[in-house]
Amino acid sequence: MSDQQGLVDRFRAARRDPQLAVLEGFHAVKHALRFGAPISILVGTDAAEVQRLAAVLAPDLGERLSASLQLVCAEVFARLAPRPPRPGIMAIASRPAVAVEDLVRDRSPRPIVLLEDPRSPANLGACVRVAAAADAAGVLTTGPQDPWQPAALRGAAGLHYALPVIRVQRPVVRERPVIAVDPGGEAFTPAVVPPRAVLAFGAERYGLSAGVLAAADRRVSIPMRAGVSSLNLATCVSAVLFAWRLSQV
Ligand SMILES: C[S@@+](CC[C@H](N)C(=O)[O-])C[C@H]1O[C@@H](n2cnc3c(N)ncnc32)[C@H](O)[C@@H]1O
Repeated sequence: MSDQQGLVDRFRAARRDPQLAVLEGFHAVKHALRFGAPISILVGTDAAEVQRLAAVLAPDLGERLSASLQLVCAEVFARLAPRPPRPGIMAIASRPAVAVEDLVRDRSPRPIVLLEDPRSPANLGACVRVAAAADAAGVLTTGPQDPWQPAALRGAAGLHYALPVIRVQRPVVRERPVIAVDPGGEAFTPAVVPPRAVLAFGAERYGLSAGVLAAADRRVSIPMRAGVSSLNLATCVSAVLFAWRLSQV
C-alpha cells in the first residue's frame, strides 16, 4: 500500500471512528487547536496559504500549524473527504472523554443546551458554535445524529473542543431546572433562566417531544411576527443564549 493510499484509508476510517474527529477546513482546525484538540495528523495542500491565513486569522497558531503541517498533492487531498474544504487543510484529532454526569453536576450557573433529536448536522454544528461563543456550560444532544460527525464539526467551526458536547440516550430532565424553548410558550425574558438551567430545544420539523414539554419547569417562546411559524433551530438557540448572556453583564 502506498503512503498516499494509507492516508486516504486513515481519513476514511477516522470518519467512522467514534473516538476520532475529522476536522475540515481552516476554521475548524484553528478552533480545535486553540481549544486543545489532540491532533494526530494535519494535512494541507499549500503551506504558504496556510501561513497567510494564520497570519490574518490565527497569529497565535502560526508556528504550530507550520510545524505540524504535512503537505499532500491536490489529487490525494481531494480523496480525503466527500467535500474537500478550501483552502485545503484537514486534520484528525481524538475526541475528549467527558462524562455527562460531570457536566450535569457541575455547579457553574451557566446553562446547558439540550438539542432534542436535531436532524441537520450543519444546524447542530451551528448550535455548538453559538453555545461556545455564549460560554454555555455544554451541549447535549439526543437522537441518531452523532454531534461529532465531520459535517457537524464543520458547522461548528471546530468549537466542539471549547465545551463539552455529548450525545445522550434520553433528555436529562432531573437535577437541573428545565426550560422548554417552544413556540407555544410564554414570552421569553432572560429572567426566566435560573442558574444551572437546561435550555431544551426541539427538532427542526417536529419541535420538542411531549415528554420534555411535560417535564419542563417552564415553557418559553420568542415572540414572532404573525404568519411566521418558527425560527431556525440554531437561530433560536442563538437568540436565547445571547439574551441570557447579555443580561449577565
Ligand atoms: C424549527 S423549530 C420547530 C418547529 C416546530 N414545528 C414546532 O412547532 O416546534 C425548532 C426548535 O427551535 C425552537 N424555536 C424556533 N422558533 C421558536 C420560537 N419562536 N419560540 C420558541 N422556540 C422556538 C424550538 O425549540 C423548536 O423546537
